[in-house]
Amino acid sequence: MVLIADLDETRTIGPEECLALAGELIRENSVEAIWENSWILRALANDRSFLIKRYNERLKSYWSGDERDKYQPQSLELANNNRFYIRSNIWMPLAPSSKTLEFEQKLFAYEIPHDHNFQLLTVGYYGPGYPTDIYEYDASRVTGAAGENVEISEKTEAILSPGRMIFYRQSRDIHVQHTPSEMSVSLNLSLSDPDYDLIPQYVFDVNTNKIVGGAGDLHSNRLFLVDVFRAVNDSNSVEILSDFVRHFDCPRTRAAAFQVLSEIEPDACAPLLMKTDIGKIAYLNERLAIGNAAREYSRF
Ligand SMILES: [Fe+2]
Repeated sequence: MVLIADLDETRTIGPEECLALAGELIRENSVEAIWENSWILRALANDRSFLIKRYNERLKSYWSGDERDKYQPQSLELANNNRFYIRSNIWMPLAPSSKTLEFEQKLFAYEIPHDHNFQLLTVGYYGPGYPTDIYEYDASRVTGAAGENVEISEKTEAILSPGRMIFYRQSRDIHVQHTPSEMSVSLNLSLSDPDYDLIPQYVFDVNTNKIVGGAGDLHSNRLFLVDVFRAVNDSNSVEILSDFVRHFDCPRTRAAAFQVLSEIEPDACAPLLMKTDIGKIAYLNERLAIGNAAREYSRF
């Protein structure tokens, strides 16, 4: 069941306190542990003054050059301890007649059905909020092949209005964000799995119930880079790809490396089939979903 709540929460906390409480109260990466303690993000949304101070500071940082290597301006990191991340996101309305509509939609990840490879709790903070369609799927029943059929639940429609919380569960919920009617701001509390770079994040077609690509996450971007070696490689690339097949932790990456090797250096494949378990990977010959977006998109 999709998790949406309008909590009647009167406590007020700041981002650092919210981060500390997340570490204290959410001891494990489970839906129950996060949902039970979701009031902390709602209490952060009760602090109506901290965010403007942070945006003031951010604007000033353009003077110092500190912004050069940061994320897109619509996403602002408020606090993190490498396990939990608190961010604010700005959602702009887009004019349908804009000549750069498609570009802007991608910038805000609008109209892109995707899941997340981390737990993402979000609350509406300012403005009417973005409308979203939420679906569920079972990641354990998915191989990760491009074009793969996926069983997707009925749609739940919601608006991330101020104070409303939505929990996008890791590798469980798929959502599509639509343009809000006016500028809106949301706050996110996300929890990264230690293995999250091994967990794929997908873009779906919710009309045909298919995986159409990777969501620009670290996993699918890695597959994208492996794929590049079909066109550009040398003898060292063959060694590196062979090492990936032998030792890398992620079976999808191992399969992708093997596929490229079988194309660029078929002689390297027989010993790998003999000396490793690569031949047992069920989707060894499937074309896997690879990164098809900038990594930034996968964070919202
Ligand atoms: Fe999202």
